[in-house]
Amino acid sequence: MDALRIRPSSKPLTGKVRISGAKNAALPILCATLLSDGASHLRNVPRLRDIETTAALLRFLGRDVRVDAPEVHVAAGSQVKPEAPYELVKQMRASVLVLGPLVARFGRAKVSLPGGCAIGARPIDQHLKGLEAMGCTIRLERGYVMAEGPNGGGRLKGAEVVFDIPTVTGTENLMMAAALAKGRTTLVNCAREPEVEELGRILNKMGAEVNGAGTDVMHIVGTDRGELAPFDHAIIPDRIEAGTYMVAAAMIEGGDVLVEGAELSDLEALAMKMRAAGVEITSEGHNIRVKRTGPLRGVNVTTAPHPGFPTDMQAQFLALMSMAKGESVITETIFENRFMHVPELQRMGASVALRGNTAVVQGVNRLYGAAVMATDLRASASLVIAGIVADDETEVRRIYHLDRGYERIEEKLHGLGVDVERVKGAEA
Ligand code: EPZ
Repeated sequence: MDALRIRPSSKPLTGKVRISGAKNAALPILCATLLSDGASHLRNVPRLRDIETTAALLRFLGRDVRVDAPEVHVAAGSQVKPEAPYELVKQMRASVLVLGPLVARFGRAKVSLPGGCAIGARPIDQHLKGLEAMGCTIRLERGYVMAEGPNGGGRLKGAEVVFDIPTVTGTENLMMAAALAKGRTTLVNCAREPEVEELGRILNKMGAEVNGAGTDVMHIVGTDRGELAPFDHAIIPDRIEAGTYMVAAAMIEGGDVLVEGAELSDLEALAMKMRAAGVEITSEGHNIRVKRTGPLRGVNVTTAPHPGFPTDMQAQFLALMSMAKGESVITETIFENRFMHVPELQRMGASVALRGNTAVVQGVNRLYGAAVMATDLRASASLVIAGIVADDETEVRRIYHLDRGYERIEEKLHGLGVDVERVKGAEA
């Protein structure tokens, strides 16, 4: 398994970093191609393992998919077999996003339950509750969701669905199902992430009638045409990748980085906390400038659904706070096990006390280089960020986690002055 070897950066990070397309927008949009038999063209798609995994799943389902990042072409292939096997779904939980399109388009679907992952149990009860409200019969059998439309595989019907909690992929699954259901669907307590709003744009480009995507209430009128039209679309930038480089830029005093192709409006909660910590964040057109001009101050953060502080930025921000003066209290409210970066950061000298879903961080003056283990996508990013300021070499192992969500990370960090290299096969 590969590792990233990061040597101490004597100089602050400076320069520019170009942000890639959003992974968490590309994944549902690729699944939305199941709603049409036409040839769709996606642009600004990041070169990531999760994109390849989704392409493999669509091919298994019978689609012709050509990935030539940042372009992806999807067209109808052979007859669709509406089954997503465990071997593919276990690689990436977001595969569950084929469930809504398949059962809406073909009347039935057999999709492996995604199972949990490092950060939590990750249930999909809200997805299933919504599909049942739309007339689906749902059976759980030997680790699979067996979904069937009304009357033995008929067309879904519009319904009112109130989510018990905002769920990103749950909202996205039901949006895609509702786009082909008969009549009107109202989704209440929806996730409001920019990636959800982007999916709404795509479905409308495909001829659906989606109103309110990006807000907590959505109204969707299903088309009676039986399928949607193909689309040509350039995907929005990845706000979490952007936030990760914003935090990296703030790690060393004197940092001055232009994060190119990112919208500050998608990251207001993060920007507010970074400014409170003493970092200058300004918008320059469709770019974000980050300047670290003085000492860091500890600030408290509680993660929340968008537009709150993103859970996907919690690990990275905790690494920043490990170097801030004073105490910061970081509370994770979205996932039950999203502090696995903490033991690894403690090995690097960070002073963190974990109490349930809260981490109390006391800033320290230095972190020590060490060999550390990546456990999930964003935890890995926080270890890389800590390695930038450590006093000696840091080796972040099992970086296949990173490769799921960060395109060309060593190249982009190198462009900011970080001494980093990928070490092939670092672990026997
Ligand atoms: C999406 O995951 C993202 N993934 C995650 O990003 C992100 O961390 C998460 O949203 C929260 O923002 C993609 O978009 C592909 P949820 P998702 O359903 O949809 C509970 C990354 O780093 N829940 O919004 O799976 C759930 O357990 C990844 O890129 C239910 O209880 O997350 C969690 O506590 C990691 N029942 C909370 O809701 C359900 O049916 C939010 O989960 C669904 C969710």
